[in-house]
Amino acid sequence: MRSTLFRTKKVEQSILDTEEPEHALKKSLSALDLTVFGVGVIIGTGIFVLTGKVAKENAGPAVSLAFVVAGVVCALAALCYAEFASTLPVAGSAYTFSYASLGELPAWIIGWDLVLEFALGTAVVAVGWSGYIRSLLDNAGWHLPEYLSGRDGAHGFGFDILAAALILVLTCILVIGMKLSARVTEVVVAIKVAVVLIVIIAGAFFITADNYKPFIPKAQPVAAGGSLKAPLIQLMVGWAPSNFGVMGIFTAASVVFFAFIGFDVVATAAEETKNPQRDMPRGILGSLLVCTVLYVAVSIVVTGMQHYSQLSVDAPLADAFKAIGHPWYAGVISFGAAVGLTTVCMILLLGQTRVFFAMSRDGLLPRFFSRVHPRFRTPHRPTILLGVVIAVIAGFTSLSELAQLVNIGTLFAFVVVAIGVIILRNTRPDLHRAFRTPWVPVLPIVSVLATLWLMLNLPAETWLRFAIWMVIGFLVYFLYGRSHSRLARHEETTVADVSGDRPPGDAQA
Ligand code: ALA
Repeated sequence: MRSTLFRTKKVEQSILDTEEPEHALKKSLSALDLTVFGVGVIIGTGIFVLTGKVAKENAGPAVSLAFVVAGVVCALAALCYAEFASTLPVAGSAYTFSYASLGELPAWIIGWDLVLEFALGTAVVAVGWSGYIRSLLDNAGWHLPEYLSGRDGAHGFGFDILAAALILVLTCILVIGMKLSARVTEVVVAIKVAVVLIVIIAGAFFITADNYKPFIPKAQPVAAGGSLKAPLIQLMVGWAPSNFGVMGIFTAASVVFFAFIGFDVVATAAEETKNPQRDMPRGILGSLLVCTVLYVAVSIVVTGMQHYSQLSVDAPLADAFKAIGHPWYAGVISFGAAVGLTTVCMILLLGQTRVFFAMSRDGLLPRFFSRVHPRFRTPHRPTILLGVVIAVIAGFTSLSELAQLVNIGTLFAFVVVAIGVIILRNTRPDLHRAFRTPWVPVLPIVSVLATLWLMLNLPAETWLRFAIWMVIGFLVYFLYGRSHSRLARHEETTVADVSGDRPPGDAQA
């Protein structure tokens, strides 16, 4: 039993699978495409929406330090991701990596976890996008009825029609093909980065030094009740739950971590990259670096323009300009944010379908989902299925709690990847690694500890929800995946095969 749960998929087999014609994706992306792809998904709701909420409720001007903390955790994880992605250039990201190093059950767990990250992440960003679009429509004098504006604003029934529509349109684009989406992404990323630079450069002229006092506001106790909403670490060590102060920076970091999600998605496109060994590490680390610098700069500028207690929680970057009497800038920023969030949504949706595709190709989910479209060469079946499901979730969903659930799922994947680097170095030292994580095992261990620390700063109720999702995942694995896995079937074939010399590929067809 133990040996089947931890059976690993050979690295060579992972690469061979990608070459079967009916399961092969087109290889068309370069390092620059990947960096653009990364920046395209990384900069989004995190910086455009969460910055204001977190500065106001958890960290004050020290939100910029929270971005540094989250950025460091991501950089450590990125160094581990880069080694895996450059060694195993196949679709599926951390899922594929853990299948090759930790075994089938951990791989299933991580794949299931990534489904949560990408599906709910897409929904969160679509809802944020819809908010910006509604604000632009309001400026133009068009008001959507409340029941079509999402759950938050409505009394009784509420469906976010814009968020759902966005996801369905993006689903169609992804079915048609990667090439089209990469081209669309480039234009949109340019607009988004331009808007972020406008915030930094124009905003710098309106900074008031007094707004930084105090830079780290004093810790304040959280109102009693609802202890499940307090960070788990504060409950574990028996501290009275509080906001602000030094611990507030870590609470803030565990939330703004959402702003960095996406560099791991770059790794999911490894199979569609022309030269993954060289371009993957460049794409992952490059996009992460660009985003960290921009985030820290934006948060310093915005908390300098407006006192943190006055920041808006819906559109803080645009509203800071309104507050100082520059609505024109606010309009441009809202427009750029709405355009930018479109690509974030699209790439998260793409990452989601690719993980699902890889799991289905391995037989852990029905193989029906891993036949690529004969003409477009895209995994159209999981794309359509998940697009529709996520559109419904986005229509009925409220934003902030889901973002925390996305974060815990992603952080958990980081832990598995870092451990996987150490294991794979020991079990397969012979593999060619175009990029090697420095200081193994020290760096991956530090990465695991730092990641766990951020996870512990998430609310207890987020842990509870995550546990429920994982229990459902276990049930699916033990009732379906374990017996349908290609590896399982291969094992049966090789046991029956007296010679035992057949190469793995023969038994898989
Ligand atoms: N990092 C992405 C965002 O902030 C998911 O929207």
